[in-house]
Amino acid sequence: MRRMTASGEWRCPAAGVAPGHTATFRLECGGRAIRGFVVNHDGRYRAYVNRCPHVGTPLDLWPNEFFTEDGRSLICSTHGALYEPDTGRCTGGPCAGDRLTPLPLSLEGDSLVVRCHE
Ligand code: FES
Repeated sequence: MRRMTASGEWRCPAAGVAPGHTATFRLECGGRAIRGFVVNHDGRYRAYVNRCPHVGTPLDLWPNEFFTEDGRSLICSTHGALYEPDTGRCTGGPCAGDRLTPLPLSLEGDSLVVRCHE
């Protein structure tokens, strides 16, 4: 389920991202392509740029695999950095104390909407 609109926003049905699941997307922001993902952690949605602060690679070496097996953390599959799903804060691994870059996310009707930063 990937959908991109031309105006620097991405939408998808909220019901399509169940608790414990994620969805990846691509946004065009000021002529730049940004890859990101939405996470549903216990019913709370967040959106982040899909770039690990350690070396800058996407977190999901295996596409759209972001959660640890216990479902409590997000994990970068390159070197194992762990992140809090709700804050993006790195809690372990080579970039402890750093954080994922959040993207503005809103719920509009039944849709999740991610936009570029102002
Ligand atoms: S690139 Fe993510 S932990 Fe090293």
